[in-house]
Amino acid sequence: MFRLSQFMQEIVRSAALEPISPKHPAILADRPRNVDRTLAEPQASAVAAPESRSSAAPVFDGRGSAQSVPPGPVVIWNLIRRCNLTCKHCYSISADKDFPGELSTAEVFAVMDDLKAFRVPVLILSGGEPLLRPDLFEIARRAKEMGFYVGLSSNGTLIDERNIARIAATDFNYVGVSLDGIGATHDRFRRMDGAFEQSLAGIRLCRDAGLKIGVRFTMTRDNAHDLPGLLKLVEDEGIDRFYFSHLNYAGRGNKNRKTDAHHQMTRQAMDLLFDTCWKYRQRGLAKELTTGNNDADGVYFYHWVKRRFPDQAEAVRAKLAAWGGNSSGVNVANIDNLGKVHPDTMWWHHDLGNVRERPFSAIWVDTSDPIMAGLKAKPRKVGGRCGVCAFFDICGGNTRVRAQQTVGDPWAEDPGCYLGDEEIGVEVANSSRVD
Ligand SMILES: C[S@@+](CC[C@H](N)C(=O)[O-])C[C@H]1O[C@@H](n2cnc3c(N)ncnc32)[C@H](O)[C@@H]1O
Ligand code: SF4
Repeated sequence: MFRLSQFMQEIVRSAALEPISPKHPAILADRPRNVDRTLAEPQASAVAAPESRSSAAPVFDGRGSAQSVPPGPVVIWNLIRRCNLTCKHCYSISADKDFPGELSTAEVFAVMDDLKAFRVPVLILSGGEPLLRPDLFEIARRAKEMGFYVGLSSNGTLIDERNIARIAATDFNYVGVSLDGIGATHDRFRRMDGAFEQSLAGIRLCRDAGLKIGVRFTMTRDNAHDLPGLLKLVEDEGIDRFYFSHLNYAGRGNKNRKTDAHHQMTRQAMDLLFDTCWKYRQRGLAKELTTGNNDADGVYFYHWVKRRFPDQAEAVRAKLAAWGGNSSGVNVANIDNLGKVHPDTMWWHHDLGNVRERPFSAIWVDTSDPIMAGLKAKPRKVGGRCGVCAFFDICGGNTRVRAQQTVGDPWAEDPGCYLGDEEIGVEVANSSRVD
């Protein structure tokens, strides 16, 4: 995950606030509202994410001092696969039916004890639709009591007047709700009429209850046109966070990958996000903007900085390299509804073990699995354009699942890289990758 607003903040701190020759006109009206309370929650804002990485998040031992032992990964936990929606791109291939064999409450609690001992800092409770799990609040409350940072990843349609008090009382550190477009675009994408209105109502309830709330958007050719509208909605509604996700080729997202955005479309979306983020910062709006499922975003950002703030480009480059790009299997982990452990949520077709048979802490450090060994290798051994990229230290070779799903080789170049040959430092190439 690429924390755009954090990197942008670095520039704001040291820049004279005037970029060199801005490429785009102002896209947002200058209304100074919703100066973010997230500024008051630096630790929370450092870890609030689905598809997150933990290295940026200091972990405290309860006595106020940071521990030196490295923390475990952020764990995204799909507690239930059942869902009231059947979205076109869903990696978990969720549907409105029972999936037998899911972890019981007692099993979940036992896993949580192991995760805590393994110094996992963050649990993102996901699904399916997690609000369909009857013991969700019990699990979330216990997680909070144990000191985890707890996020709720929901489609938002089931957040209503009846359960908002319970959601607020659980005191989730963060609630992320998916909006894959405005109105009918979202409804088509998520295959339910009226879903947009219900999800927006859920977002408003969370916001009004004082929860930190974010919108998550996965872009394809079907909904790219709604990105400006969603960014406007985030501002108008006083939403704390916007998470832009590229499509990953998992589950129904792989089946429907022909609708993935063209590279040129992705570049335009990134330009808009960067400019929006810059303008937020200039206005003192500390909204969080993050991106996921395409670590080339960090490299694209470096080029943006180089054009506008050349004096700062190398300092930003060093920070981007310290971030290091893709962290599947290292700082991000996934446990599915049946207790199977995966390198991240997009690897449901590859199991590392099951928490019913072996503790997560043992599964996670075991590199006898070739995928896990490859992901944990430093540096990862990736071929094709990724292998010759001058910015491999920033991106880490991007998303291995897309390579595996398209050519059958998890260590081939990521076809989702939207950077041109010049942008990756390749002087002579057979073809340009920007289509
Ligand atoms: C699987 S959903 C579960 C939580 C909840 N039901 C929801 O839709 O937000 C978690 C997040 O993953 C995103 N997602 C699902 N499939 C994806 C894919 N193939 N590529 C990128 N993001 C995906 C969803 O849009 C959602 O934001
Ligand atoms: S993306 Fe979320 S809301 Fe859509 S089908 Fe999957 S689990 Fe359900």
